[in-house]
Amino acid sequence: MSTPPRHEQPQDAPRRPVTLTKLAEMRALGEPIVMVTAYDHPSAKAVEAAGVDIVLVGDSAANNVLGYTDTVPVTVDELLMLTAAVHRGLRTPLLVGDLPFGSYEASDEQAIQTAHRFVKEAGCDAVKLEGGGASADRARAIVRAGVPVMGHIGLTPQTATMLGGYRAQGRTAARAKQVFDDALALQAAGCFSIVFEAIPAEVTDAIMPFLEIPVIGIGAGSSTDGQVLVLHDLLAIHDDFQPKFAKRFAAVKAEMLRGVEAYADEVRTRKFPGGEHTYGIAPEELDRFRDSLGFVEDSARR
Ligand code: KIV
Repeated sequence: MSTPPRHEQPQDAPRRPVTLTKLAEMRALGEPIVMVTAYDHPSAKAVEAAGVDIVLVGDSAANNVLGYTDTVPVTVDELLMLTAAVHRGLRTPLLVGDLPFGSYEASDEQAIQTAHRFVKEAGCDAVKLEGGGASADRARAIVRAGVPVMGHIGLTPQTATMLGGYRAQGRTAARAKQVFDDALALQAAGCFSIVFEAIPAEVTDAIMPFLEIPVIGIGAGSSTDGQVLVLHDLLAIHDDFQPKFAKRFAAVKAEMLRGVEAYADEVRTRKFPGGEHTYGIAPEELDRFRDSLGFVEDSARR
């Protein structure tokens, strides 16, 4: 599958683009796969520089950058704009676009059409969709139409209401078996990978031996082939509710606040801008300019 060329590609970067084959190799070698979300160009450049393997422009953009309270309202067009910006900042990680709620469930045709938009308009290497059951059929159709698909089971935020809210899944024998069945269905449908979200570690451990494709966990224990976190959770870009599985590795919101407060203080005390932030003008040009103002004043007086 071909994607449009990515911009800003440093010529001397040693890393090679991450392919589906590379991910399968990493799984076989037991090399943990690092996946993270990104929603804009500067974040894309940061995660590229950090050397992650997979970047997901998640529908979690809805609450993390677009101000919605959950992922349901975000549209294909909103995600395409964010995904294209991320694409322009990446060179090596595999770029996965998240199909938002309502953009793939109705029919195979709808699913294929939306997946093709993510590849053609935003430069995605693959798309992700949520759920097993009918979603496995949609996944099969998209794969047949030439687009790699990542599945997503367990806690699937787009249908959280049906799952009884934002809570761990697979906590009874019957629900754990459902997770298992969904995983096998997505694998059989041709998914190249599956995200396991909010599933007891023991359930994940029991399912892993049955899967031949990389499983990326988020709140699913440590036996998966890789881990994914939401960038805004791991950097603490917000201080909203954090799910149990999210760990903070930095305190970006606190640093943003510190910077903006320092700026506001310097403006108010006239410390900023300093001479080093100010443009100059040649003295003779300044004289001429001042003379011209005098001329304007003279003519205004007449
Ligand atoms: O949208 C998202 O951020 C996700 C991850 C939690 C996997 O789907």
